[in-house]
Amino acid sequence: MKRGTDIEAAAAVLRAGGLVAFPTETVYGLGGDAASDAAVANIFAAKGRPRTHPLIVHLAPDAVLDDFAIDISPIARTLAAAAWPGPLTIILRRGPRVSLAATGGADTVGLRVPAHSVAQQLLRAFGGAIAAPSANRFGRVSPTTADHVAADLGDDVDYILDGGACVVGVESTIVDLSRDRPTLLRPGGMAREAIEAIVGPLAAADAAAPAAPGTLASHYAPRAELIAVDPADVPAAVAAARGIVAVLAPRSAFAAWPDLRAIARPLPDDLAGIARELYAALRDLDAAGVDVVIAALPPTVGLGEAVGDRLRRAAGPKGRT
Ligand code: TXA
Ligand code: MG
Repeated sequence: MKRGTDIEAAAAVLRAGGLVAFPTETVYGLGGDAASDAAVANIFAAKGRPRTHPLIVHLAPDAVLDDFAIDISPIARTLAAAAWPGPLTIILRRGPRVSLAATGGADTVGLRVPAHSVAQQLLRAFGGAIAAPSANRFGRVSPTTADHVAADLGDDVDYILDGGACVVGVESTIVDLSRDRPTLLRPGGMAREAIEAIVGPLAAADAAAPAAPGTLASHYAPRAELIAVDPADVPAAVAAARGIVAVLAPRSAFAAWPDLRAIARPLPDDLAGIARELYAALRDLDAAGVDVVIAALPPTVGLGEAVGDRLRRAAGPKGRT
């Protein structure tokens, strides 16, 4: 595995069918040539992910949407124009230039134009679309630094393009626009409110929505046991916990708990800061050998919806796939 900041070297790896971990504004992606079945097969193998779980296809800002999707509704075009580049993935009907392997055999495709300048430079230098899931092993929290990628994937990635820490910190929001009603499949880095201001109310995923297997209950679980509670219930949760206990909460919240018998892991007080630091904090606590993490749930507004979603999933049943 090589690591560096050489865009041309990374693009050459992609052209040769290899795998490049690259930064986006949300999390690091594990990228391969979206048009190559062999490269896509390598992604699934490196990640240890079932081949039926579709990958997001990343496009450069000047890519032509109609090359990658068909039956694009006016509302999908409006949302793409308003939200891209940015932390939003739109599910559309798959166009012929997207490898069937990348979509896990589905007739829909998740498309996203990332806002990170390194991601955009890589897409331009490569000249094609890049299929990429988050660059973590299946079932671990997503990586937000090049060190996280190296720790998870090591030699299974040919080149790690280091672009520093991701500024959004949680994965993109996924909206399905392949059917009649705009549907929220995964809350993420673009707040629901901002999307609804453009497309109107988002429906909740139902049985007919395209399956987003990344929304499996335990998908984002750290190794420690995670308990997600309202801030008011943190002291009681600490009192009931056994072993080495840590509390993950906004810095200002700790003032209300002067006698807390737990390791304090303060996060920023604003929701964007919490999202940005969440995954690194969970990795730190795992590395510190903590047995139980008590996490304070943020309000369900703005990025709080995505943070709460990830905390609840991390608290979900173990037995990870
Ligand atoms: O921010 C992100 O979205 C990051 C960066 C690297 O772009 N990527 C990411 O990829 O989180 P991944 O593979 O870890 O999660 C993508 C989710 C999965 O739950 C997958 O099932 C869903 O998107 N997905 C992708 N294509 C889909 C499709 N055609 N239909 C339904 N769900 C899809
Ligand atoms: Mg992922």
